[in-house]
Amino acid sequence: MRRYVIAGNWKMNMTPAKAQALINEMKPLVAGKDNCDIVLCVPAIDIPAAIEAAKGSNIKIGAENVHFKASGAYTGEISAEMLVEAGVEYVVIGHSERRQYFGETDQTVNLRTLAALNAGLKAIVCVGETLEQRELGYTETLLKFQTKMALTNVTAEQMKNVIIAYEPVWAIGTGVTATADQADEGNGYVRAAVAEMFGADIAAQTTVQYGGSMNDKNAAELLSKENVDGGLIGGASLKSAAFSAIVDAAQ
Ligand code: 13P
Repeated sequence: MRRYVIAGNWKMNMTPAKAQALINEMKPLVAGKDNCDIVLCVPAIDIPAAIEAAKGSNIKIGAENVHFKASGAYTGEISAEMLVEAGVEYVVIGHSERRQYFGETDQTVNLRTLAALNAGLKAIVCVGETLEQRELGYTETLLKFQTKMALTNVTAEQMKNVIIAYEPVWAIGTGVTATADQADEGNGYVRAAVAEMFGADIAAQTTVQYGGSMNDKNAAELLSKENVDGGLIGGASLKSAAFSAIVDAAQ
């Protein structure tokens, strides 16, 4: 009913030459693993090299951010049209690192999501609570709010191109993974928010990933959960063996 998506988020790692080498290493390891979509979201400067390296394989290339305006005086930013012309198919939006370090808000996440979808990109929209918010008991409220804010003015038709990644901030890059039950619960809150906005059918068809210290050891258990339809993977996506093992777990 809904498609598994295993996506790497390289963050600020890998030069173009290293990107090419890593993708060439990964290609044979993930070849024919067609039970999920396989995506690598890479730094903007790596995009041409990554697309060249991935040509003819089942690896799709994504960006890590997109600006919400079509063009203009926004020094340092990259538009959806630029990404599309470069051959990018996916884009990560609203990652907690962008919210934390670069002033990303629920409103700019929404605008970026709309810009990506209107350009025909697939948006991987990230939501997630901090440890403090979890301990205060706000996880459900927060996840539903972030999800609804991000998807404001998105059409039912466009939801086909929306993937949501539940990434608890306390689990990112910390080695502390959410338990499979916590991941399932968080993803369930996200799906419930989608259902409240778009109805049960669209919610049932929307891919909701888990992200946060997912690796080759814990992926199978996380992915076995009803509401976990894939992963958004940081550290482990920088190693061909670990990433391809996660792809295997999704088969
Ligand atoms: P890690 O897998 O390194 O914890 O990062 C998760 C993440 O932030 C993916 O977007």
